[in-house]
Amino acid sequence: MNHLVTKHGKLHIRVYKKSDIAVCRSLWSELTQHHANLYGDKSISGDDPGRGFDVYLERPDRKGTWIAELDGKPVGFAGLLLLIDEEGVGEIEPVIVTSEYRRQGVGRELVKRIMREAGKAGARFLSVRPVARNTSAFAFFVKLGFATLGHLDLFQDLSASSDRDWKAGILIHGKRLRY
Ligand SMILES: CC(C)(COP(=O)(O)OP(=O)(O)OC[C@H]1O[C@@H](n2cnc3c(N)ncnc32)[C@H](O)[C@@H]1OP(=O)(O)O)[C@@H](O)C(=O)NCCC(=O)NCCS
Repeated sequence: MNHLVTKHGKLHIRVYKKSDIAVCRSLWSELTQHHANLYGDKSISGDDPGRGFDVYLERPDRKGTWIAELDGKPVGFAGLLLLIDEEGVGEIEPVIVTSEYRRQGVGRELVKRIMREAGKAGARFLSVRPVARNTSAFAFFVKLGFATLGHLDLFQDLSASSDRDWKAGILIHGKRLRY
């Protein structure tokens, strides 16, 4: 049970149910739009930005999804991906709080719930993979204790006429990487 009280009401984190689909599609859409804005690339959100939520619901590694409500109004949600196999690595995917209700501790409580659920399910590690330009999510996760770097996800842009305006500047192991 959660007792955080924000200026918008009392926070309750509960398990996702089927009737949440419309609100979750809308939140997923907001997340996708956030990524499209970060990269200045409308193709990221596409024609139906909430559709990714339908795909997400069908993932075989989806262990659970939790909704954050303020006085009964859904304002965010988070999910845990986990297949208990060799390594026991769980992943937080996604986590989103609608913009109006950020910076009141809702995201923190969602992540704390996922941490507890991952532990109960036998995960040994819990990861999260924000896109490299998502500096606010990066600050959020480091603050919450995700301070160990796992994999480095390196890639090349193979598109013939990339209109992505990559930024320069992150130094890792002495190498400067675009992001
Ligand atoms: C990331 C996100 C879920 C955080 O949710 P939130 O409810 O605003 O987070 P909280 O209020 O619980 O923040 C907890 C702490 O994280 C840090 N933090 C949160 N947002 C931050 C930001 N934009 N910049 C710097 N630090 C931040 C702060 O230390 C904060 O504590 P404080 O407000 O007392 O200083 C929310 O910003 C969001 O939905 N972003 C868009 C979607 C997204 O990027 N999701 C992650 C994809 S991997």
